[in-house]
Formats: sequence, C-alpha cells, structure tokens
Amino acid sequence: MIPIIGELRPWHDPTQLQLNRLPMRTTPEPRSRPRQSLDGTWSFALFDHPDDVPAAAVTGPTPAPVGGWRPIAVPGNWTMQIDEDRPHYTNVQMPFPGPPPSLPARNPTGVHRRSFSGPERQPGDRVILHIGGAESVHGVYLNDRFVGFGTDSRLPSEYDVTDLVRPGPNDLAVVVIRYSAHSYVEDQDQWWMAGLHRTVFIETRPAVALADVELVADWDPGTARGSLHVDATVSFADAPLAADRAGLRVRAWLESGTGAIVAEPIEQPVPHQFEAPYRFVGHRVSAVWSGLEIAPWSAESPSLYRVRVELLDADGRVLDTASRRAGFRRVVVSDRQLLVNGRPILIFGVNRHDHHPDRGKAVTADDIRADLIAMRSHNVNAIRTAHYPNDETFLDLCDELGFYVVDEANIECHAYNRSLCHDPTYRAAWLERGARMVQRDRNHPSVILWSLGNESGYGPNHDALAGWIRSADPSRPLHYEEAVAIGGWVDGGLAATDVVCPMYPGIEAIRRYGESGLGHRPLIMCEYSHAMGNSNGSLADYWDVIEATPGLQGGFLWEWKDHGLRQRLPDGTVRLAYGGQFGDTPHDCNFVADGLMSADLVPHPAAQELMWVHRPVAVDAAGEGLRVTNRTSFTELETYAGRWQLLADGQVIDDGPFEVPSVRPGSSAAMPLPEFSVTPPPDAELSLIVRWYTRGDSWWSAAGRLVAWDQVTLRERTAPVATRARPPASPLVLTPPRLQLWRAATDNDGFKLMPDLAIRLNVGGQALRAWQDAGLDRRDPEEVVDHRVTVTDDEFGRSYHHVVEVPEPLADLARVGVTFTVAGHLGRMRWFGRGPHENYPDRNRSAMAACWEGPLDELPYLVPQEFGLRTDCRWFELFDPASGDRVRITALGAPVHVSATRHSAAELFAAAHVSELGRRDDVVVCVDAAHRGIGTASCGPDVLAGYRLPAGRYELAYRISAE
Ligand code: GAL
Ligand code: MG
Repeated sequence: MIPIIGELRPWHDPTQLQLNRLPMRTTPEPRSRPRQSLDGTWSFALFDHPDDVPAAAVTGPTPAPVGGWRPIAVPGNWTMQIDEDRPHYTNVQMPFPGPPPSLPARNPTGVHRRSFSGPERQPGDRVILHIGGAESVHGVYLNDRFVGFGTDSRLPSEYDVTDLVRPGPNDLAVVVIRYSAHSYVEDQDQWWMAGLHRTVFIETRPAVALADVELVADWDPGTARGSLHVDATVSFADAPLAADRAGLRVRAWLESGTGAIVAEPIEQPVPHQFEAPYRFVGHRVSAVWSGLEIAPWSAESPSLYRVRVELLDADGRVLDTASRRAGFRRVVVSDRQLLVNGRPILIFGVNRHDHHPDRGKAVTADDIRADLIAMRSHNVNAIRTAHYPNDETFLDLCDELGFYVVDEANIECHAYNRSLCHDPTYRAAWLERGARMVQRDRNHPSVILWSLGNESGYGPNHDALAGWIRSADPSRPLHYEEAVAIGGWVDGGLAATDVVCPMYPGIEAIRRYGESGLGHRPLIMCEYSHAMGNSNGSLADYWDVIEATPGLQGGFLWEWKDHGLRQRLPDGTVRLAYGGQFGDTPHDCNFVADGLMSADLVPHPAAQELMWVHRPVAVDAAGEGLRVTNRTSFTELETYAGRWQLLADGQVIDDGPFEVPSVRPGSSAAMPLPEFSVTPPPDAELSLIVRWYTRGDSWWSAAGRLVAWDQVTLRERTAPVATRARPPASPLVLTPPRLQLWRAATDNDGFKLMPDLAIRLNVGGQALRAWQDAGLDRRDPEEVVDHRVTVTDDEFGRSYHHVVEVPEPLADLARVGVTFTVAGHLGRMRWFGRGPHENYPDRNRSAMAACWEGPLDELPYLVPQEFGLRTDCRWFELFDPASGDRVRITALGAPVHVSATRHSAAELFAAAHVSELGRRDDVVVCVDAAHRGIGTASCGPDVLAGYRLPAGRYELAYRISAE
C-alpha cells in the first residue's frame, strides 16, 4: 500500500479536494523564476487499482524503464501510449455504473517515476513542484515521502517540496488514478483519458516572495482613459509575523510592450498583522493608477502592457520580482447587450476542446496556435473553453492574438445532471473548481465571461460559486447555461448567469426572445449548429435573425474539431477512430466526431459557411448600387483591400480593385457599382462578386488573404443557353439516369450506427427512420412514386424531362432526382453553379454561383454519408483533361443540384467508417430537382420547413451531352 493516500483513499471521497496543495495563483509572465522542466520520458507502471500499488512502486531509486516499468511521455495520456488501458468515449453516461461516488472494480492507476537533480538555491529558498494537469486525481511522493494529493484534471496543482528536495538526485513519483469521485463532475462529452497531460516542473522562489499579483485593468469608454489596480500578495515561508519583516515594500509600475514606462512606480509597505491586528487583511499591497492614456484591449486590437512588481526589503534590496501582462478593457452587460469598451460585440464563436489525434489531451503550444490560426482564418473571434480551463498557454495566446474567451470551470455532472449540484458532498468541489479557475486566469484580458461549468443542473452549489466569483472578481459577468435552461430565459438563474446562453435553440425561439424586449440580458448561444458529419444547415438563417434582432449577439458553434484518435489496425490501416473502436463499452460511437474540422485540422466544407457568416464586412444590393456593412466593433475597413469581378453566365468578364469606403464599425454605407470596362453580352445572367483581402501580413496569414465575400445578382438570364455537343448514346455515359429519392443518411438525418442513442438522449433526426419505414433504402423508387419521363434526342444531346408526384405519406424525402454513372477517367468536374466547396440548399450562402473547376470530392466525414453536392447548377461537366472527353449536364428548366463522387448512396450508407469505404472506378453522378436541407438535428433543430420536400409535383429537366 502506498503511504497516506493508500490508507486515506481520498480518491473515493468527493469532499477530499487536496492534501498539502498550495493556493492557486495567477499565471506568472514571463517565466521569471528559475524553473526546471520535468517534461520528457518518465518510467511508468500500470496497476489495476490504486489498492494494488505497492509502497515500493513510489519509493526507492527511480526505476529504469525496463521490466515492469516502461517509458512514457510526459506530458501525455498513457491511454494513447500503451495497449492495456485505452481511451473510452461516452457522452452523457458514465463509463462505469454509479451512483456517485461508486467506482469501477478495475480502476487503472499509473505510477510515473523520474529523477531530477536538486535545484541550486539560496538559503531559505522554497522549491515548488508544479503538476500542470493529471486525469483524474493524483498523489505525489518525493524521496520516499508523501508530498500531497490533488484533484481537478484541468487545473495545475502546486506543492512546496522544499523540505524533501535534496542536492543531487531526487526520486519523484506521481500516482495518477484514472477514475475517482471527481470523475462524476468531469463527465464531459469527450474521451476519458488518463495521465499527466500537462507540463510538470519545479520552480525555486525566495522565502519571502511575491506569491501572487492580481490585476484589474479597466478602460473607461466615457473618458477613453485606463485605470489599473494591482494587488500583490507577499508570502512568507518562514516567520510571517516576525517583527524583523518590518520595512518590506512592494513597488509596481506599468510598461508598454516595448518597455517604456506608462505609469510611474508606486511603492507601498507590506502590511503586517502585528501593526494592525484587527484591521489586517493579509500581506497584500495595492497600487492604483487612473487616467492612463493607453490603448484599450479588444479581440480586434489586442494591445498589451506589462505590469512589473518588485518586493524590496528595508534596505531597498530586491527580494523578488514578478511581471504580468495587462490588457485594458471593460466588459459589462447593460440593457440587453454585452459591451466591450462600451460597444456591443458580435460573438463569432466556437467551442474548443483540447484535443490532439495522437496525444489526446496533451496539446502543445504549437497545437494551440495551429487551432487559433485556423480559427482566425475562419473569422472566429471568440472561444468557449468547452468544458474546462485550458492550458495557461491558451489564454496567453488569446490575450496576445486577440480572442474573446468564455473560461469554463471543469464541472460537468451530466449523468447526474440534476442531483449533484444540490449535493453537499460535492459543494466544496464546485467552489474549488470555479474559484481556482478564477484565481489562475483573472489577469487575462481575453477572458470576458466566467462560466460555472456545463450540463450540471442548477442548484445551490452553483449559486455558492457564483457568489464567490462575483465577490472576488466583480469585473466580469457570469455565464451558465442550465441556469436559464431550467429557470427560463427572461429571469431564470439571475444569480448564476448574466447572459442568456442557451444551447441549440431554434431560430424562432431566439427571435422571440430578442423581440420580446424582456429581461436585461443579451442572448449568446453557448452552443449551436452541431457540426457532426455533413451539417450546419441554416447557419446563415441564424445569422439573419441575430443581426436583425436586438438582444441577440451571436454564439459558439459546436464544435471546433472532431475528437478522432489516430489508430493503427492490425492490417496496417491507419484511421481516426471514434467511440467503441478501442473496444470501449458502453460508448457513444461517432457522437465524438462533431467538429467543423477533422481531428487533424482539415476543414470540413461547412467551415466556409462559418467563415462567411462571420465575415467582418458584408455587401448587398441597395437601390442602384451597393450597401457595405462593417460588422466589426472597432476596426475601420481601411485595413482591407477590395476587388470586384463581373460575371456573365458564371464567367469573369471584367474585374478590378475598388476603393474601400469609410464605414464606421457597426454601421453601413452606400457604395456605387464599379465602372465596368466591357459591355456584357445581352442575354447573359450577370452578377458581381465583391471580395475583401487583408492588406498587411499578420500572425495568422500573409497579406492578401481573403476574409469576406458576397455576390450580388445584377440581372437574371433572359434566354436559355444552348451549347453544341456531339450526339447522345455516348460510351462515356455508362448507365442511364434512374430515379433516386434517397440519400446516404447524414448524421443529422439519423444515427445509422447508434439508433438507440436517439431514444436514450432524445436527440437526432427522425428522417432516416421514416425513410427506412417507407422502404426507401431498399425499394425501387419507381414503386413508391408516380414518375413519368420523356426522353428526346436532338443535335445537342439527349434531353430528359421527369415529372414526379410525391404522395402525402412520402413528404419530407431526402431528394427528388436521378443518378447515373459515367466513365471513370472523367475525374474532374466543372460547373456553373454554387461553389467551389460542397454546399446544400440550407448551407449555400457562402457558395457563389460561378464557373468552378476541381477534382471529384473525397468524403470529408469520418462516417460515410451523403456529401459533395453543388446546388443551383446551370450546367455541370465531368471531364478528362488528357483526352478531352467530357459529359455535360445542362439544366433545361430550373437549376439542378449535382454531385459527382466515387460512391453510390448505398455504398456510403453501408459503411461505418471512412476506412471501410471502397472506391469505384466509375463516377456516380446525382442530379436533383430538389434536395432536403442538412439542418442540425443530430443535436438541435431539424431542417427548417422551407428546406424540406413537401408532397406534390416535381419537375426535373436536363440534357446530357457528351464528346
Ligand atoms: C451539448 C454538450 C456538449 C456536447 C454537445 C453534443 O449538450 O454541452 O458537450 O455533448 O451537446 O455534441
Ligand atoms: Mg454533456
């Protein structure tokens, strides 16, 4: 049995939060004190249960990674590094049976060992051990002695090891227990992992030290002046009350980013209890400056300063120094608006988990930066740290690069959603998790809202935490979804949330809230538009309403990345795995793959739509000219360069730069149409595309990067297009068009891999079930609808005119169209329709109607499903550049929706994972008169009525020509 924790078994007890852990402090900047990193390869041994760990495993010299010990990377998850204990995915349900705080009989426990050499130190110096993050709880031993115990997988724990550390080699052991009573409040929808997933280091600090430096850096939009409040706390490892500590002083000042002094030093004595016994409030020194002429911080313009602090003894000797970055800004909720520096902001947000396909929860600064670069490239300006505080590096980067952050406490008890928030045995956990987050992160200007956690009901534990935060940090509003979910949007949970932050609300519901004028809180969706598989239908419809309705300020799309994990199968195949593919049970399958990006950061097609709804500047037609809207809160449009294109029948016939008009943030102005230098052909369809590019290089892109675009129709076509081609019956068309009413169900249509999930969680679309009940996945479509087709040959090709009568019971079909195959060497496509990226009727506002060209699409989703559509095609061609062979489909009536892939709907539907999907030699072409929208019913509203296919008559007319 291991000493102390083997006997006390604190992992069993939700009230046991820590033993010997130091108070949380704000993150130092720069890393000013001597630090020794302990990251690298450790020796590791796995046991089935904490009770099985012998004392010898944590004592004695550090074992070499041989025999029962093996090497393990720290930071890392052992679940990503060894075969005996793998990742386990569940969403709501716990991975083992409850009730809290019951734990599973097998509770993998990893002992991490490494040695390090004792740091050099001055007499009296303290040595601090920092454990950045351990899932789920950990115990620490140094040189055969127990050091401490810590909980909360997503915040650091620090221990004073001064009395145990020795010069020369030291033997450290960190025991990590995979499941604990605290797992019940870490029941987020993600992989259950285990290990030391964040950095470990030791730091040396003086006996009398600056223990913490807290800042409130405010900017008053009324006076355009900043004020700064610095609270420095001095700690005494030795005699804190001794009279010889008299004369200590703290000096603080403010510098610009380049080191110029912005606020002159203020020097104050360190208060002591012996000087004022009844008024003493701690060894805290405050310094306040006001009327500062400084540049405010915002996500659009993240100006940072540096606060420097020195601790001096009576003789003026510097005992310790500290510095923190400061960004001056004011965040308030006022009159149903969230204001930053007095101005309303739009939340172009995403939810982000820490995730890496190979390292699980262990993400590096480079990984985080890569996420932020991709986010910024998609016009994302806000991130909710779903559902726990991230590594400190994340907030440093958000401060520096400019993102608004909702910092969320690591509290989710989804499986016991309504009970634990009332449970006094978990009360202390609530408070510590939230308060320690605030203590760590309060200096970050990027943090604009504190979130009390996710999906944990609403109860007194929340209000206790909210009360603590409001008192400790009155400078930020609070965010907590369930307070409004349970209490109502208008006045529910006023103690716990200052914003109405629902998840997956319908568009009408948010419109009603906005228009009601009730309550004082703005509505910002904490989650919306669930990006699982082929998804994010109606994103633009959400934004139409957000922009048109007071009280609505945007939201955080769910979610940034899939949580696929790279897995090598016995046959050598490498794939991104989802739940159940590690033999984990129970599991929630591919519900963990619901990102806008793949796990390795390849954007799904919907990312283009997100980028478009987030664009900083929008253009539409107004009167004889254009209207330009600056959708930023602080930025002048002069930061962009603009270019226009004139298109005739999808082809660019003229283009040029335009003079960027001056439009104040948050307002619109008129802009004339450009002067065209060509006379457009008389009958042609005419449109104008306006694009905006960055002017200068920046951290996320070189100059000239596209940030916004819009298309304005100038004239519809006045006469049909006729293209001459060879006669029909070409060998390039392999099969004739067949009626098709079915699509390989998307995750939103229904969960083909987990039909029970929909029932268990009351989520998921019902369309798939209805289609299967009607036999549409098996039956010949000719049997279920009345279909007539007229075929005519002429010198242009073969023309088809289909009339389909959809009977009432079959309303809400996936599509009404045809499918046929063409020769496999026609591997490229070219079309005049919406593109260039995949788009669907309710996700095509980012897709401009023009002539596009590209290779056939590859399936972008982990679970095979419908993909690759291009809506509103006037014509569509498959061609082979080498031989010049081509097949062209020309819409003869209304534009058609077309896809061309290497898979049939049946093949896509039959496969459970992209790695199982075969690849045909020929090309499957689908041509639809109508195609159901995509919606977001995997978690949220299904396809809106206007994008569904009602019963009734459908006509589809097109010509196939080939040469
Ligand atoms: C929400 C939850 C997220 C995630 C999402 C569905 O209910 O907060 O963590 O589970 O649904 O993917
Ligand atoms: Mg959940």
